[in-house]
Amino acid sequence: MKKILVLTFIVAIVFANCNPSKKIANVPPPKLTYETNLQAVIMANCVPCHIPAKGGFKKAYDNFTNVKTDIDEMIRRMELNPTDRGFMPFKKTAKLSDSVVAVFKQWRADGLLEK
Ligand code: HEC
Repeated sequence: MKKILVLTFIVAIVFANCNPSKKIANVPPPKLTYETNLQAVIMANCVPCHIPAKGGFKKAYDNFTNVKTDIDEMIRRMELNPTDRGFMPFKKTAKLSDSVVAVFKQWRADGLLEK
Protein backbone atom coordinates (compact mmCIF):
# COMPACT_ATOMS: atom_id res chain seq x y z
CA MET A 1 0.00 0.00 0.00
CA LYS A 2 2.77 2.37 0.94
CA LYS A 3 4.55 1.54 -2.32
CA ILE A 4 1.49 2.42 -4.36
CA LEU A 5 1.18 5.74 -2.57
CA VAL A 6 4.81 6.61 -3.25
CA LEU A 7 4.42 5.58 -6.88
CA THR A 8 1.30 7.67 -7.31
CA PHE A 9 3.12 10.60 -5.80
CA ILE A 10 6.04 10.26 -8.24
CA VAL A 11 3.75 9.89 -11.24
CA ALA A 12 1.82 12.97 -10.16
CA ILE A 13 5.00 15.04 -9.92
CA VAL A 14 6.22 13.87 -13.31
CA PHE A 15 2.90 14.73 -14.94
CA ALA A 16 2.70 18.10 -13.24
CA ASN A 17 6.07 19.02 -14.71
CA CYS A 18 5.23 17.71 -18.16
CA ASN A 19 2.09 19.77 -18.52
CA PRO A 20 2.74 21.48 -21.87
CA SER A 21 0.55 24.54 -21.21
CA LYS A 22 2.55 25.26 -18.08
CA LYS A 23 5.83 25.13 -20.00
CA ILE A 24 4.63 27.52 -22.71
CA ALA A 25 3.36 29.99 -20.15
CA ASN A 26 6.76 30.01 -18.45
CA VAL A 27 8.79 30.85 -21.56
CA PRO A 28 8.84 34.60 -22.23
CA PRO A 29 8.54 35.68 -25.89
CA PRO A 30 11.94 36.24 -27.50
CA LYS A 31 13.21 39.83 -27.47
CA LEU A 32 13.08 41.71 -30.74
CA THR A 33 16.37 42.54 -32.44
CA TYR A 34 17.34 45.02 -35.13
CA GLU A 35 18.51 42.32 -37.53
CA THR A 36 15.67 39.88 -37.06
CA ASN A 37 12.67 42.14 -36.56
CA LEU A 38 13.28 45.80 -37.29
CA GLN A 39 15.42 45.90 -40.41
CA ALA A 40 12.73 44.49 -42.71
CA VAL A 41 10.07 46.85 -41.35
CA ILE A 42 12.33 49.86 -41.95
CA MET A 43 13.24 48.60 -45.41
CA ALA A 44 9.56 48.30 -46.28
CA ASN A 45 8.33 51.60 -44.83
CA CYS A 46 11.17 54.13 -44.83
CA VAL A 47 12.35 53.34 -48.34
CA PRO A 48 13.72 54.94 -50.46
CA CYS A 49 14.45 58.18 -48.58
CA HIS A 50 16.35 56.68 -45.61
CA ILE A 51 17.99 53.80 -47.48
CA PRO A 52 21.14 55.02 -49.27
CA ALA A 53 21.38 51.80 -51.31
CA LYS A 54 17.93 52.59 -52.72
CA GLY A 55 18.90 56.13 -53.65
CA GLY A 56 17.79 57.80 -50.42
CA PHE A 57 19.70 60.82 -49.20
CA LYS A 58 17.96 61.44 -45.86
CA LYS A 59 19.47 60.13 -42.64
CA ALA A 60 20.36 56.47 -43.22
CA TYR A 61 18.24 54.00 -41.28
CA ASP A 62 19.68 50.90 -42.87
CA ASN A 63 22.18 50.74 -40.04
CA PHE A 64 21.79 49.76 -36.42
CA THR A 65 23.69 52.70 -34.91
CA ASN A 66 21.55 55.44 -36.45
CA VAL A 67 18.31 53.65 -35.63
CA LYS A 68 19.40 53.06 -32.05
CA THR A 69 20.23 56.76 -31.65
CA ASP A 70 17.07 58.06 -33.35
CA ILE A 71 14.45 55.54 -32.21
CA ASP A 72 12.54 58.00 -29.99
CA GLU A 73 12.33 60.56 -32.77
CA MET A 74 11.34 57.89 -35.31
CA ILE A 75 8.46 56.71 -33.14
CA ARG A 76 7.40 60.28 -32.32
CA ARG A 77 7.20 61.17 -35.99
CA MET A 78 5.30 58.02 -36.98
CA GLU A 79 2.72 58.83 -34.32
CA LEU A 80 2.06 62.37 -35.57
CA ASN A 81 -0.93 62.97 -37.79
CA PRO A 82 -0.18 62.93 -41.52
CA THR A 83 -0.99 66.64 -41.70
CA ASP A 84 1.49 67.51 -38.91
CA ARG A 85 4.89 68.95 -39.74
CA GLY A 86 7.55 66.24 -39.40
CA PHE A 87 5.19 63.30 -39.94
CA MET A 88 6.85 60.14 -41.26
CA PRO A 89 6.73 58.42 -43.70
CA PHE A 90 7.11 61.79 -45.41
CA LYS A 91 4.26 62.80 -47.75
CA LYS A 92 2.21 59.67 -46.99
CA THR A 93 -1.46 60.45 -46.31
CA ALA A 94 -2.02 57.75 -43.69
CA LYS A 95 -0.18 56.66 -40.57
CA LEU A 96 1.57 53.33 -40.50
CA SER A 97 -0.58 50.67 -38.87
CA ASP A 98 -0.42 50.20 -35.12
CA SER A 99 1.12 46.77 -35.59
CA VAL A 100 4.02 48.24 -37.57
CA VAL A 101 4.66 51.01 -35.03
CA ALA A 102 4.39 48.37 -32.31
CA VAL A 103 7.47 46.60 -33.70
CA PHE A 104 9.54 49.78 -33.20
CA LYS A 105 8.16 50.26 -29.69
CA GLN A 106 8.66 46.65 -28.65
CA TRP A 107 12.22 46.74 -29.96
CA ARG A 108 12.89 49.84 -27.83
CA ALA A 109 11.28 48.21 -24.80
CA ASP A 110 13.35 45.06 -25.30
CA GLY A 111 16.56 47.08 -24.96
CA LEU A 112 17.60 48.13 -28.50
CA LEU A 113 19.35 44.86 -29.33
CA GLU A 114 21.32 44.49 -32.54
CA LYS A 115 21.04 40.73 -32.91
C1 HEC B 1 9.36 59.86 -49.11
C2 HEC B 1 10.59 60.03 -48.35
C3 HEC B 1 10.60 59.61 -46.89
C4 HEC B 1 10.15 58.45 -46.33
C5 HEC B 1 9.45 57.26 -46.99
C6 HEC B 1 10.49 58.53 -44.92
N1 HEC B 1 11.12 59.71 -44.65
FE1 HEC B 1 11.86 60.34 -42.84
N2 HEC B 1 12.57 62.03 -43.69
C7 HEC B 1 12.31 62.45 -44.99
C8 HEC B 1 12.75 63.83 -45.17
C9 HEC B 1 12.59 64.63 -46.46
C10 HEC B 1 13.29 64.23 -43.93
C11 HEC B 1 13.87 65.60 -43.58
C12 HEC B 1 12.76 66.57 -43.25
C13 HEC B 1 12.28 66.45 -41.84
O1 HEC B 1 13.12 66.36 -40.92
O2 HEC B 1 11.06 66.43 -41.63
C14 HEC B 1 13.17 63.08 -43.02
C15 HEC B 1 13.60 63.08 -41.71
C16 HEC B 1 13.34 62.07 -40.81
C17 HEC B 1 13.79 62.08 -39.43
C18 HEC B 1 14.66 63.13 -38.79
C19 HEC B 1 16.09 62.73 -39.10
C20 HEC B 1 17.13 63.68 -38.61
O3 HEC B 1 17.94 64.09 -39.44
O4 HEC B 1 17.15 63.98 -37.40
C21 HEC B 1 13.33 60.93 -38.86
C22 HEC B 1 13.53 60.47 -37.44
C23 HEC B 1 12.60 60.20 -39.89
N3 HEC B 1 12.64 60.93 -41.06
C24 HEC B 1 12.01 58.98 -39.70
C25 HEC B 1 11.41 58.23 -40.72
C26 HEC B 1 10.90 56.90 -40.52
C27 HEC B 1 10.92 56.13 -39.22
C28 HEC B 1 10.42 56.48 -41.72
C29 HEC B 1 9.77 55.17 -42.06
C30 HEC B 1 8.71 54.72 -41.21
C31 HEC B 1 10.60 57.57 -42.67
N4 HEC B 1 11.22 58.59 -42.02
C32 HEC B 1 10.21 57.54 -44.00
C33 HEC B 1 11.76 61.68 -46.00
C34 HEC B 1 11.20 60.42 -45.83
